[in-house]
Amino acid sequence: MVAEDLEMSLAASLAAMASLDAAGLEDVRLQWLGKAGILTGRLKALGAMTPEARKAEGAALNDCKERLNQALSARRAALDEEALAARLERERIDVTAPARPEPVGAIHPISRTLEEITAIFGAMGFTVKEGPDIEDDWHAFGALNIPGHHPARAMMDTFYLNASLGNRPALLRPHTSSVQVRTMLTQAPPIRIIVPGRTYRSDHDATHSPMFHQTEGLVIGRDITLGHLKGCLIDFLRMFFGNPALPVRFRASYFPFTEPSMEVDIGWNRKTGEIGKGGDWLEILGSGMVHPNVLANCGIDPREFQGFAFGVGIERITMLKHGIADLRLFYESDVRWLRHYGAAPLSPAMLHEGV
Ligand code: DAH
Repeated sequence: MVAEDLEMSLAASLAAMASLDAAGLEDVRLQWLGKAGILTGRLKALGAMTPEARKAEGAALNDCKERLNQALSARRAALDEEALAARLERERIDVTAPARPEPVGAIHPISRTLEEITAIFGAMGFTVKEGPDIEDDWHAFGALNIPGHHPARAMMDTFYLNASLGNRPALLRPHTSSVQVRTMLTQAPPIRIIVPGRTYRSDHDATHSPMFHQTEGLVIGRDITLGHLKGCLIDFLRMFFGNPALPVRFRASYFPFTEPSMEVDIGWNRKTGEIGKGGDWLEILGSGMVHPNVLANCGIDPREFQGFAFGVGIERITMLKHGIADLRLFYESDVRWLRHYGAAPLSPAMLHEGV
């Protein structure tokens, strides 16, 4: 055959392929089929041949080219397969390996208290209401019978915003009582709601934080009395603290939005901090019969309806219940602290454990 002279070096190239990698294979391809390759040169030369010679040489060269290409792709496929096998070996997954322990989360004590309060009042037929953290001064003060010059406005150390809502100055609500107003304006009595939420005051020390939580309560109906207020709050406090005999005392006080107003105290031991015994009293929440002016401001006729309201600080009752001394710890996001004071996820709320 005319191209026989190529046979030996082609055979050598084919034999050498078995030990070549992808780059080596490319060198071989270029050596034969590149611009200056052996076969390329010979194929170019066909043009100058006689037809018979061209036919024989052409067939032989094509045969060489085909064998070369076949050998190249066979070796490439073998290399790919080797690489895949190596990778599978390297990335082998042991499905029987034991799972690495995941850190277990806990419910933050503030969230837990809010859950418990919701469960306790939910069982008494209350529903949960929310309102905006950014309020105007009428919803936060005016409608609640706290006029502009009233000392209660200064007492609350309110954060005013450099903005207004409607025509009214905007502020961060210093209490959840504003949601009383929003509810009465939009919902006809009977009303029975609690309002868990964030509140803000310019205050910061071991027992005060500029952002804290309150739960407001509001009950409005035709025949709601002070007796309902007392029964409701005594039940709540006894369930929350898990003590059916918890001493509870109502003490006359003053809030602009209630008349009469009462501070609610629970029995405790000042020295040991123990709740429920010891003969000392600890103030725990504010309450009263909703002031007729507030009802009227919110479009409810005070001759027809009356009711009671209360407000409780969530951080405070949580600190008391769990013996937490410094309120700032609530917001430090220290997981060691949370592991200690947090509650197990999905554990039943207090209601089922307590009274
Ligand atoms: N808004 C009061 C505060 O932030 C708490 C309060 C007291 C709410 C008496 C009430 C209430 O609804 O009747 O200190």
